[in-house]
Amino acid sequence: MAEFVRVAEVVECADPSSQLVEVDGEMVALFCVGGQFYALDDVCTHDGGPLAGGELTDHKIACPRHGAKFDIRTGAALSMPAVRATQSHDVKVDDGKVWVRLRSGKRADGPAAHGLGSIAPPPPAASPLPLATAAPVAGTASEAPAPAASAAVSAILCEDSVREILKEVKDPELFVNIVDLGLIYGVTLSPAADAPDKQHVSVDMTMTSPACPAGPQLIADTKRAVSAHANVSAVEVRIVMDPPWTPDRMTDAARDQLGIF
Ligand code: FES
Repeated sequence: MAEFVRVAEVVECADPSSQLVEVDGEMVALFCVGGQFYALDDVCTHDGGPLAGGELTDHKIACPRHGAKFDIRTGAALSMPAVRATQSHDVKVDDGKVWVRLRSGKRADGPAAHGLGSIAPPPPAASPLPLATAAPVAGTASEAPAPAASAAVSAILCEDSVREILKEVKDPELFVNIVDLGLIYGVTLSPAADAPDKQHVSVDMTMTSPACPAGPQLIADTKRAVSAHANVSAVEVRIVMDPPWTPDRMTDAARDQLGIF
């Protein structure tokens, strides 16, 4: 088992603060919040972003690259685009100094058993996203080719067939379709006023976070995919952030693809 390594003086650590320290050749993000110290791998599990340089809010650290949040007490991933915990490490304070011991071989998805014995309990669930007022958002045109409408649903236009079409639209970072991700809140069809044999399709869609960088692309891809159906006159995509998306909206298929068990 690894040994504890002295990494900082308590009096030199602001509260709250985060800093980068080296332990046995590994870069570790050290946090001080509420008089307690916590240590995580300085690695975001989404795409390797440096956590020590992120924004620290209470016991959450936000990756500076794409905004995924982690619980500094456990390493648990709290928001997309990260879906896996980052490694937490043992921390102790002795004689005014902070010591860290590397842990390895498992992820800290549950309550941490490290630290000084007075660690606050972990949050009950993944952190909710901020609420936002539902509002129509215009899609962004793109030059990318439209996903082809599924041949299996090309003849019949109904809510189920629209959802099948929407499975052809994938989140560009997670490579999982937006239906299995749980981003589709509703599909409404209504007769087109100017074309009796066609329908107007309205899709209520949410995002994994309010500032999701993939949002404009997802809206544009959704419009193109549904518009490709011969019986569609127009497509409206409304972005709805209330209720906020949470990981438990994903289907088992999405969880399998993302390696979440
Ligand atoms: S690398 Fe951290 S959120 Fe993407």
